Amino acid sequence: MSSKVISEADLESRVGAAPFGDRTKALALSAVQFESLGSVAWGLFPAAPVMVRGQGSLLWDADGKEYIDLLSGFSVSNFGNCHPRITEAICKQAGTLTHYFDLPHEGRVRLAERLCSLAGIRGGNAKVLFGTTGSDGVENAVRAARFFTGKPYILTAKGDYHGATFGTIGLTSRAGINATYSPGGATGNIGFFGFPHEYRAGLSEYGNSGMEALAELERDLSGGFSPYADASGNLNVAAILAEPFQSSLGYYIPPRDYLKELRRICDRHGLLLIIDEVQTGLGRTGRLWAYDHSGIEPDILVTSKTLGGGLPLSAVVARADILSQWVPTAHINTQAGNAVACAAANTVLDMLEEPGALDDVTKRGAYFKEGLDRIARTHPSLGYIDHESIYLGLEFVSDPVKKTPASELVSRIRAFGLREGLLLDQGGYYGNRIPLIPALNIPYELIDRTLETLEAVIDEAERT
Ligand SMILES: Cc1ncc(COP(=O)(O)O)c(C=O)c1O
Repeated sequence: MSSKVISEADLESRVGAAPFGDRTKALALSAVQFESLGSVAWGLFPAAPVMVRGQGSLLWDADGKEYIDLLSGFSVSNFGNCHPRITEAICKQAGTLTHYFDLPHEGRVRLAERLCSLAGIRGGNAKVLFGTTGSDGVENAVRAARFFTGKPYILTAKGDYHGATFGTIGLTSRAGINATYSPGGATGNIGFFGFPHEYRAGLSEYGNSGMEALAELERDLSGGFSPYADASGNLNVAAILAEPFQSSLGYYIPPRDYLKELRRICDRHGLLLIIDEVQTGLGRTGRLWAYDHSGIEPDILVTSKTLGGGLPLSAVVARADILSQWVPTAHINTQAGNAVACAAANTVLDMLEEPGALDDVTKRGAYFKEGLDRIARTHPSLGYIDHESIYLGLEFVSDPVKKTPASELVSRIRAFGLREGLLLDQGGYYGNRIPLIPALNIPYELIDRTLETLEAVIDEAERT
């Protein structure tokens, strides 16, 4: 553990070396002094940039330096920062009814009805359980599955991210999170299976696999040696919980049949299928839900992040029979279904339901991908691009044949990008990925600017 401990002095020197102006540095230093050193800000960036204003796909720090937003607050501000329609809905609702405990209100009831019909679960014969964050959405989904089936085990993919609260951290096997911190979490009755990603499948020095990962899962659910069977041989598994694409880890897209296969396994073994669309949902992949690409129907869906249009909101949408099992007060959350957040969410859904809205996202994604392909043709270090609409994961390698991960190169690209005003994340199983998370409506000229700057910083990083 000790090698992971970072002192205030370490962070202060990182801030000192960061490409920020004086006001931004002063605010970052105050954060070091007064906020927990465990903040994600210091993991996401060597030194956290401090933003004071956002408009569309642009952000400005405390010294007025401009950045292109390629994170969208980790897929929260998917219509750009401070979208005028969302801001207007927020202001109007804030002057009418801000919040009244976890009770129904007009906007919340309307939102529940819309989510039931949009989730495609049992032809709309579904129910909604509101919360505030992605993590509490996942906790609610897991509780519902365990309560409905009376069984304890939840199985999830290695590398999935489902939250970092006490109740979800054990489900998050993203490297470095579960292993380092889960001793503090409620981690019992969880099993893991391999996530198929075909770029390195079959290369024995890497853990990645193709669809055979699911054959192994099926073996684990069958026969007398199943780790999940009780003494009578009955499976003790409530549900499989899956991200359709692995987002927080680095924007990995599995083979098209991944969810179909999970659905088949759930049906065969009598398990529920919980799909975590907290990050993939609501348009980023060019469909409302990423699972729409597979033609499957989940039993339980979790949505959050962009649902609230920048305000905290989560929703579990589940088969009506599953959420009809609860007795009143089985779940209580003072801040759930906040009226202002629900007003923003109804506006987000209005915008996504406009004719051609999702096609427009796909067109912008295709334009982005064409430019990235051009860069890849002259930069073999850009070894692979996961792409579905504007869901883009870039994988960098030092040897394109051996597919050797180039994590140092990515650290330099990210650092130079920050200096040049690109907000980039670094992720991946091997730390060699850059997920691009622009707003769904990022203007074409900002895509051009991003591509031009990205190519320049890749050039520089390769030379350095
Ligand atoms: C797929 C997925 N599930 C759950 C969560 C947890 O959401 P939150 O951080 O809002 O609790 C995240 C957050 O990144 C996520 O990407």
